[in-house]
Order: sequence, then structure tokens, then C-alpha cells
Amino acid sequence: MKKILFAASECVPFVKTGGLADVVGSLPAYFNDDEFDVRVVLPKYTCIPEKFTSQMRYVTHFYMPYMGRDRYVGIMELVHEGIHYYFVDNEDYYSGKAPYTDAYYDLEKFAFFCNAALSILPVVEFRPDIIHCHDWQTGLIPVYLKDRFAGSEFFRGIKTVVTIHNLKFQGIWSVDTIKAISMLSDYYFTSDKMEAYGNGNMFKGGLVYADRITTVSKTYVEEIKTPEYGEGLHGLMQARSNDLVGIVNGLDYRVYDPENDPLIPRNYNVDNFRKLKKYNKTALQEQLGLKVDSKIMMIGIVSRLTDQKGFDLIDAVMEQICQDEIQLVVLGTGEERYEKMFRYYAEKYPEKISANIRYNEAMSHEIYAACDAFLMPSRFEPCGLSQLMSLRYGTVPIVRETGGLFDTVDAYNEYEHYGTGFSFANYNAEELLNTIRYAEYIYYDKKRDWNRIAEFAMQADFSWNRSAREYEELYRELLED
Ligand code: ADP
Ligand code: GLC
Repeated sequence: MKKILFAASECVPFVKTGGLADVVGSLPAYFNDDEFDVRVVLPKYTCIPEKFTSQMRYVTHFYMPYMGRDRYVGIMELVHEGIHYYFVDNEDYYSGKAPYTDAYYDLEKFAFFCNAALSILPVVEFRPDIIHCHDWQTGLIPVYLKDRFAGSEFFRGIKTVVTIHNLKFQGIWSVDTIKAISMLSDYYFTSDKMEAYGNGNMFKGGLVYADRITTVSKTYVEEIKTPEYGEGLHGLMQARSNDLVGIVNGLDYRVYDPENDPLIPRNYNVDNFRKLKKYNKTALQEQLGLKVDSKIMMIGIVSRLTDQKGFDLIDAVMEQICQDEIQLVVLGTGEERYEKMFRYYAEKYPEKISANIRYNEAMSHEIYAACDAFLMPSRFEPCGLSQLMSLRYGTVPIVRETGGLFDTVDAYNEYEHYGTGFSFANYNAEELLNTIRYAEYIYYDKKRDWNRIAEFAMQADFSWNRSAREYEELYRELLED
């Protein structure tokens, strides 16, 4: 049996702020369990719902020296839907309302997590062959395995994989600060290791020391080798290109399934969506106080409201979109200017625009099921799961051709009568508007084509099956090295 440990800062169903949680919470179940024992280690945040914390089993606790003090490390354990989870408990660090709270404090709590996640392993007697680290929060683990944990027999030979879900976030602060919270020596703070542009950089440590690096789409692999998308680390990405692969994310098709989804008013499938999907639209129109009309084109957005997702482009064309025969339903939280922008248009056009400035799992499913189209004009997108959810629900994505959006959405081609969505190339508001208007034209004037696109979308396979095989192959290859 090959033993794999996922280390991450979020994971469904316990705690989620974005797609990282979806991936960490669904991929482990898709490995062949005759060959792989995949477990997951997470911080035990106090914001994890009681229904899960009450089921966790207390294993033991110990005190770990960290930043000049002996700190409490509790170990909790839970087997949930067949997957074995370890939780690192320390209420000084993990009692915020959300997993991420304050930029500085986040660095310290995840540096502590990297130390603790390794320290608990001999105690729980689980020695992974590979530790699979996700994003900057776990970036110190590969460094520690070469440093403070290298002396011990238990840790010798453990391999590491680092997956980049988003290179924008790296865990950066002054060299002195990162030195203090990582407790690593001066040796590590040179430009070929954890120093970058005069600062200390936690993710860079992981990206330098990992045995393999993956990211979540093939296109993003190429993009991050360029100055435009490399977030300052394109040189390192180029240098490590032999160890860098792209494996596109999948979806948990058990959870995102229009035929069996308990969170939507009317279930449907690829054979009957033409008749039934619209009942989800009228139900949502009623619920949100929009004009009830099953024929009007409804466009959805479910997103963190940040620059990454292309909201400045949407802002630039909002007034024009509002003149069209459409409805727009937004669900999201994030930067204040975008929250305000959507609230403003929702007040101005109450029958057309609905701004739901909050986080709500159930409502996200209602939107994926109800809308005709889904808007995601990202500036960059390592993979993107929202468009995969939309495809699965026959809700046609309108995207910019970047990263995983480019890899997962096939632009509609009128002459070949094929496509699963609509897309545009340049980060430009006019191209976005033209693409939305082209989609409107197909929706209203070529309804049969529109329905074919939705049908192709629903037939596209983005379940984990294929991508999980690619991770298995990567693990095997790494263990043969
Ligand atoms: P990212 O991880 O960059 O935010 P993804 O598309 O990979 O983008 O994943 C976003 C995930 O978060 C999806 O599961 C999406 O449905 C969910 N999501 C985003 N905002 C909200 C919200 N306000 N309410 C509910 N779910 C949301
Ligand atoms: C990040 C990326 C998103 C990706 C997700 C899961 O949040 O922004 O594109 O889908 O991670 O890999």
C-alpha cells in the first residue's frame, strides 16, 4: 500500500472558502484504494461545524517548541465517508471566524501548521511515502523535511508533491519575519531558496524543495512560466519545468449532479433538461423577486468578488448589459467596490439584477441549476470549478480563454455546430460584451443550437476519474525514482 498524506488549509465539508476545499475534499475518494491509502491533515478550526467536531475523536496532545515557546498540539481524528482525517488543534491559532483572518497572523498559523502536521505523524504512527502539499499554507513542509525533520529515521525518504492552486498567494513578509516564524536559518534566505525580491516567501520554499510540482490545468502550467502570470516566480517555474505538470481538476459528481441534487427544486438530466430545467429558473425568479418569465435569459455568477475573476470588465459593461433582455443573478463576497457595484445595479434594475452578497452553498446549487448561462471572465484562472459545475448543470459558461477555463470550455463554433460554451481571448471589456451579446443572439434566435450547446456541456466529463489516474501515475513514478 502506498501511503499519501494531503496537507491543506481547507477541505469540504469541514471548511471552504473556494475551489481548494472542493479539490482536497473530493479527490482522495477517487484513488484506487487497493493501492493507495490517502489521508488528509487539516487545522482544527473552531469554525468547523459542530456536527463534525462532535464526531471527532481525541487522540492525544503534546507540546511542540515553536517560536520560543512550547505550544499545545492536539490531535483529533475523524473517518468521514471512508477518508481518514487528522486535525491539528490549537485554539490560539485556529479560533477565528474563518480560516484566513489577518495577513500576518495567517503566516504564523500556517507555519505552525506545517511544523505540527509533521510532528503528529510519528505519534499517530502514519508514515506517508508522499506528502502532497496544497498551496502556500503548506509550503514549508518540503523545506522542513530537508531541514529540521531530516535527522530522524521516521522522516527519511518521504517525498513531496506541491500543488499550485493559485500562485498569486505566496505567504510573503519581510525576511526577518519569515525567518522568525519558519525558524529556518539564514541559509534558506537567498534568492535561490526562500528569498524573493527582498522578502521572505513561504510558498517559494515549497516550490524549490518539492520533488514534483503540479498545477490544476495544462494551460496554467505554461502561463506561470511567463512574467504576465508567474507572480514573480516565472523564473523558478521555468527552472523547474521538468518537474512541473498540469492535472486538471475534477468535480465530485456525487455532489454536483442535477439528477439527484437535493438542493435544487427540480431535478433533471441530459434527456429532459429542455423541459424541466426552466422550473429551477422560475423558482429562483420568485425567490429573488425578479420578473417571473421562463423565457428570459438568466445569467449567473457564483464567485469570490476579486480582481482575479474579471469583475473590472463586468463593471465596465454592466450598464450596457442591463439594457439587454437578460437577468443577472450574482452570489458572492469579496472586494467592497464589487459588492457595492452589484448592489447599486440591483437597486436600479430590481426586476433584472439580483445581488446576493453572501456565501451560501445551497444557493450556489440553485444558481447553477436555474441559469441559462454562467459568467466567468477571469483575468487568470488556474483551473476554476464553477464553470465545471455550470457545464454539469447544462448552464452554458461564458469565459475568458485563460488557464483552466481555456482547457475545459470549448468555444461554440456555428459552422461545426459544436461547443460547450462561449469564450473570448483578450482581457478587454468590449470583447466580453460582444461575447455576451453573441450568446444572447444564439439563445434567442437559435434556440436549437443553444440547447445543443447545453447538451454538449452536460455530456462533457469532468468527474475525477481521469485526473485521479494522472495523480496515481505521478505518485508511482515518484516512488520509483
Ligand atoms: P476559486 O477557488 O478561485 O474561488 P473555483 O471556481 O475553483 O474558484 O471555486 C469556487 C468554489 O467556491 C465553487 O465551488 C463555487 O461554487 C464556490 N463559491 C464561490 N463563492 C461562493 C458563494 N458566495 N457562495 C457559495 N459558494 C461559493
Ligand atoms: C484556486 C484557483 C481556482 C482553482 C482552485 C482549485 O482557488 O483560483 O482556479 O479551481 O484553486 O484548484
